[in-house]
Amino acid sequence: MLCFVKVIQFIGIWLQKIFTMCGITGYVGYKNASPILLEGLRKLEYRGYDSAGLALLNGSQLYLEKRKGRVSVLADEMQKHPFRAQTGISHTRWATHGEVTDANAHPHLSSDGNFALVHNGIIENYESIKKFLSAEGYSFSSQTDSEVLANLIAYHYARRTDEKCESRFLEAVRKALMHVEGTYGIAVLCRFFPKQIVAARKGSPLLIGVGKDEMLVSSDVLGFAGRAKNVIYLEDSQVASIAPENCDIVTIGNKQIDFVVSKIDWELENADLAGASHYMEKEIFEQPKALENAIRGRISDDLSTAQLGGINMTPNELRQIDRILFCACGTAWHACLAAEHLIEKYARIPVEVEYASEFRYRNAPLDKSTLVFVISQSGETIDTLEALRESKRKGFKTLAITNSVGSTISRESDGGLYQYAGKEIGVASTKAFTSQVAISLLLALYIGRMRDLSFAEGREIVKAVKSLPAMAEEVLKLAPKIQEIAKKYAKFDDFLFLGRLSEFPVALEGALKLKEISYIHAEAYPAGEMKHGPIALVCPECPTVVFANTDDVLPKIISNAQEIKARKGPVIAITNSPEDFEKSADDIIPLPKVHEALCPIISTIPAQLLAYYIALERGCDVDKPRNLAKAVTVE
Ligand code: F6R
Repeated sequence: MLCFVKVIQFIGIWLQKIFTMCGITGYVGYKNASPILLEGLRKLEYRGYDSAGLALLNGSQLYLEKRKGRVSVLADEMQKHPFRAQTGISHTRWATHGEVTDANAHPHLSSDGNFALVHNGIIENYESIKKFLSAEGYSFSSQTDSEVLANLIAYHYARRTDEKCESRFLEAVRKALMHVEGTYGIAVLCRFFPKQIVAARKGSPLLIGVGKDEMLVSSDVLGFAGRAKNVIYLEDSQVASIAPENCDIVTIGNKQIDFVVSKIDWELENADLAGASHYMEKEIFEQPKALENAIRGRISDDLSTAQLGGINMTPNELRQIDRILFCACGTAWHACLAAEHLIEKYARIPVEVEYASEFRYRNAPLDKSTLVFVISQSGETIDTLEALRESKRKGFKTLAITNSVGSTISRESDGGLYQYAGKEIGVASTKAFTSQVAISLLLALYIGRMRDLSFAEGREIVKAVKSLPAMAEEVLKLAPKIQEIAKKYAKFDDFLFLGRLSEFPVALEGALKLKEISYIHAEAYPAGEMKHGPIALVCPECPTVVFANTDDVLPKIISNAQEIKARKGPVIAITNSPEDFEKSADDIIPLPKVHEALCPIISTIPAQLLAYYIALERGCDVDKPRNLAKAVTVE
């Protein structure tokens, strides 16, 4: 029975407690499933694009189509062989176990032909299960761990002799999952139940979309392709039996769940290209808006501070904090480094930054008055989520900065701050980074004002923060100039990026953007470190991008640029002191003078544009760079 215990409206605050990188979609209703599934897959392609496939169920006829390549290849195939059905599951893959082939694409069928399964995650003990099932007479046609699970479900189904009721299907999945080690988000069809999908999750996101006389399953609300108004976030170790008008959820241990239905805010989830050539371009240019959203309602002019209700801590509790530990991955980790500079400078609290993937295994000794902060755009990155869980397990207060309302990280942390940057689809993160840094600055201001930051200093930062959207707009006007510069440098295969203090994270981020989307080898260093090794790379074929916007160290970085020039290395200076680089830089991207606290945000924007235009020049697939996927939900 459909048991909607509570419908919760997202009202713009961090909701407390209530709440493979592949993409999964599923549909059960009364419409033709195939176009709905394909539309959902197109929206989820940012999660993986090695191969795509779908399984459709009409009566007891199970139809399977899967292809190596993009969703468009699958869609072409479906045009040739249309198959009408009102129930189906589909998948776009980012390969983990097994090469990118048609056979390894999902869905996978059990060898008795009764079950079709799509899977996101990794089944760690699949070898032993496979051995067991082979001995029981099941066979395998792919190299994947996922096919093992399809057969394990078939095995548990076959062991039961009771009538073919819907619970028998759910039970088979539940029993199978009891033997699985690893992570999964799965959706399963069974030939005997044409109006039912069974879905489950552990460590990989899975959502159930509630529409009118139809239900959908997806790894992300985008996969509902606008069809659902409400969503049920499946929690770890839960199994759902889904039919057009109802949904039943139990735990793997067979405990009934009173689930919560939340309203989807489609404005935040909007993912159209809106006339841009690429999502990355669109998202770079959305930064003024994203920054505005990050700061809206979070500033108190009267008190010259920030107001951050979502962190759910009283000023007194915050004053007890002696250290903040930030954990994240990739670009979000760079945002943590920027946060470290800002918080240490303005709030005077020691900050440590850890790679989430290292922290979760390293058993780091933490002082009891440490506050753990994770940053994650998607709110689903498995390493970051596990770092959060590890910290919670040890009893630490955990907060999060995330862009994804209702994501696992937002649900499991003790509080936090939403970015409201709007959906980020481009695989290379852009607007999420600057928005994360802006929120970190608000945090520095907020905690700083509880400690040593004076009213006057606070007022200066407040003024600066309020100017952020306009400043970002100003920098975006440099796009044509940066595109010209990009043309000149697109031929090079090695780059150095140098920045100091809060611009070192910017250098790291600039190098990462270039690597990701144009496959150019790029390294970033604090500029002062250059002489200790990296300078050996300097030559006419290795351009250096120098960020020089931090007054405290400006003369130093001017010297660093001259040292590069003296060795015939091309220099691109991104600076608010262009006159100082006339002799040493081959090209200058002149930035407006801003409060130093804004530097890591403002100087990142030209670096994003440079990477974007260089990738375009090199003919790279900017939104779908090779080997990458947007939400990294496998280790
Ligand atoms: C790089 C990029 C990745 C992500 C990282 C963490 O452009 O997007 O490095 O930053 O995978 O992702 P989230 O922030 O979703 O946890």
